Amino acid sequence: MKVSYKDKNVWITGASSGIGEALAYAFAREGARLILSSRRTDELERVAARCRELGSEASIVLLDLAVSSQLEKAADEVLATFGHVDVLVNNGGISQRSIVAETPIDVDRRIMEVDYFSGVVLTKKVLPAMLQRGKGHIVAVSSITGKFGFSYRSAYAAAKHAIHGFYESLWAEEHRNGIDVTIICPGRVHTNVSLNAITKTGEAYGIMDHGQDGGISSEQCAREIIKAMNAKKVEAYIGGREILMVYFKRYIPWLFYKLVTKVKPT
Ligand SMILES: NC(=O)c1ccc[n+]([C@@H]2O[C@H](COP(=O)([O-])OP(=O)(O)OC[C@H]3O[C@@H](n4cnc5c(N)ncnc54)[C@H](OP(=O)(O)O)[C@@H]3O)[C@@H](O)[C@H]2O)c1
Repeated sequence: MKVSYKDKNVWITGASSGIGEALAYAFAREGARLILSSRRTDELERVAARCRELGSEASIVLLDLAVSSQLEKAADEVLATFGHVDVLVNNGGISQRSIVAETPIDVDRRIMEVDYFSGVVLTKKVLPAMLQRGKGHIVAVSSITGKFGFSYRSAYAAAKHAIHGFYESLWAEEHRNGIDVTIICPGRVHTNVSLNAITKTGEAYGIMDHGQDGGISSEQCAREIIKAMNAKKVEAYIGGREILMVYFKRYIPWLFYKLVTKVKPT
């Protein structure tokens, strides 16, 4: 079913780049009222300007997903300005390029904060107004790595797996109260995600991986996210052939375990 996002308050984290940016433009074309968040003002201003050119209202709310107090403050600001959020897209995140044996616990905790807890904080802040209105849609951007573990991604895979536990439970509790929940599992999407992934030192990896380089476009990913939302899917896999790994693990586990050690992690 085609859902109208006209004049809906759509809050997207990680809106300064990649999938979040493409999603902002896709919602702008639908006439949504956008709230764009990340850490970088200049990049958000650039995205907001383009959204306005596409005919939508767009505001910026700066936040660092690693800092819980900033998230609470940002959500208070959004609720004070807009009253409620119709669609929250917990998209912002960082990937990882380091093996378990060499990764200090601080790196695991940082990835968990940015990729998992940030969404939990924002969800808990916007949910009461959604429940009061009897409607709202919460979208969480996971990964196919939220469905299976993968080399050099231990903390990232753990955070993405946690997303499934949290948002699936939320769906079970609240869908009968008008709250839609959609967990998006992209495969490889051509964005800066590998460049921005963190290594064992906590520094950016800085390399465009072969996988992301050959991935689908962020525009295609955004279109498919909105399609999954319109279909009220609880979980959606978006990407190319790599998506098969999800089905291999589910239906042909021996093949999955054989392949997962062979797929190049970069
Ligand atoms: N691309 C893929 O192949 C792929 C596959 C599976 C899942 N995903 C997921 O898709 C989501 C979007 O990633 P992308 O591919 O679009 O990568 P990207 O181009 O690197 O974008 C990441 C976004 O997250 C924001 N972000 C990162 N750390 C943040 C922090 N501490 N506080 C606030 N914002 C922060 C960045 O904004 P600032 O730097 O401006 O703060 C940026 O807008 C992520 O959750 C990622 O795990 C991507």
